[in-house]
Amino acid sequence: MAFKDRDLTDIHSFTTDEVMFILDKAVEMKRALAAKDVSRYRLADGKDLLAALLFYENSTRTRTSFEIAAMRLGMRTTGFSSTEGTSVKKGESLRHTLDMYEAYLCDAVIMRHPLDGSARFAADHLHVPVFNAGDGKHEHPTQTLLDLFTIREHLGRLDNFDMGIAGDLKYGRTAHSLAIALAKFEGVRLHLFSHHVLALPDVLMEMMKEHGVEVTIHERLDEMAGATDIMYQTRIQKERMPDLSEYDKAKSMSEFTGAMIGKTRDGFGLMHPLPIDKAAPSISSSLDGNPKALYKVQAGNGVPTRLTELALSFGLLGDDFDGEEWKDSDLNGDFFEDLKVEDRPVRTDVSIRPLRKNGVVIDHMRPYMEDVLVRMLKVRERGDIYRAATVRALSRPESIKGMLMIEDREFTQEELRAVAAISPGCTVNTIKEAKVVRKLRLKLPAVIENIPHMACSNKGCISRSEHLESVKPVMRRAGDEKVRCHFCDQLMTSAEIV
Ligand code: CP
Repeated sequence: MAFKDRDLTDIHSFTTDEVMFILDKAVEMKRALAAKDVSRYRLADGKDLLAALLFYENSTRTRTSFEIAAMRLGMRTTGFSSTEGTSVKKGESLRHTLDMYEAYLCDAVIMRHPLDGSARFAADHLHVPVFNAGDGKHEHPTQTLLDLFTIREHLGRLDNFDMGIAGDLKYGRTAHSLAIALAKFEGVRLHLFSHHVLALPDVLMEMMKEHGVEVTIHERLDEMAGATDIMYQTRIQKERMPDLSEYDKAKSMSEFTGAMIGKTRDGFGLMHPLPIDKAAPSISSSLDGNPKALYKVQAGNGVPTRLTELALSFGLLGDDFDGEEWKDSDLNGDFFEDLKVEDRPVRTDVSIRPLRKNGVVIDHMRPYMEDVLVRMLKVRERGDIYRAATVRALSRPESIKGMLMIEDREFTQEELRAVAAISPGCTVNTIKEAKVVRKLRLKLPAVIENIPHMACSNKGCISRSEHLESVKPVMRRAGDEKVRCHFCDQLMTSAEIV
């Protein structure tokens, strides 16, 4: 079954078929809940299932709706709604806390945590399904499913419409997951409004481009209101801002007012993941109860959608799914190719003296990466004799390249993989008796791990050493030169990871 034992840590690893299936099932659940048709939704009865709700950050809607969904399904819940009163306050790591709930034989973990990528770490670490109830500024995928449910319920479709997202596009995880999800649907025209300091991250703008999404950036909120069918307002995420001047600049310009609703299209719907900060409201309270204001119904949709998500993961629903299933991209594949070795004498008209006998030569490296590779390959610690420089390429004098020659050295597979990760495109020549006997062209490995000094460039990522969570960084190939953090999806060039 496509959904059984499945984690829900991000929205991009669900196909549109899978999303639509979840929404269809949630429609059935909403009807059954409204009709108190208990036998249709109490699917976990008699199974003694227990969900742990681990909330490291405040929540009203996500925690309560998950709890209600679990109870209506016939599960029980345990856990905490704040770290106050827990051993997190004594310095316990996420890993150890998760271990406890696994030791207590909980059947699922539903967690909210301030660090980006924490849910994916939990999913890798645990043997039970993990539901991401919000991880830092990264994603909030179960919110997105209820958002999509609400949009479809209101418009009758998820394609060919004008969707506005406003407020905090930089730190707002609900905005991120929603944009990622909408990019998969045909003909969604995305309209964005925020203070420029809170713009949508480049990685997501690139993703919109890749999917061919038409994006319009608006200078004024009222102008955007009139150009959209659905508008998704968000709260400025003050608590995530390292610099509160961003908050002061942005807070006053994002309020959706009563006057604006008058400029909207017939059939317009105003959404908000909530909460609305009463001190800096992103929607005027005068709009509560307005027929175009959907946010109360939207929050209510959290119960049927989350009930469905739990039921699918436990295999209580979903055996009738026959659409396209999600497949992870090819994680295997070689990271090097053997090149033809030409039998010609070693050139002497070079600015770096060739190896006289045996060793390895890394050629066509990224310029000025020599020191990084010397450190990574522990060249000095081993006492290797080496030469390294950034030089003008003889074949293309207009360009420069890095070179590293190490006498009497052969690389292990792991060392080769590390070189490939740091300097994709380089060649590695094995030299025997001053002749090249093997020549490899390296490319980015599909998965990059165990590289000394590697770090994600996102300071909020769980894999950063300063968070003391002992989560080793892992990167995944995202193009010829780019990598993506396995945990938080931060996009980097491979040169940025060390
Ligand atoms: N939408 C949302 O995540 O709300 P809570 O923070 O109240 O869970």
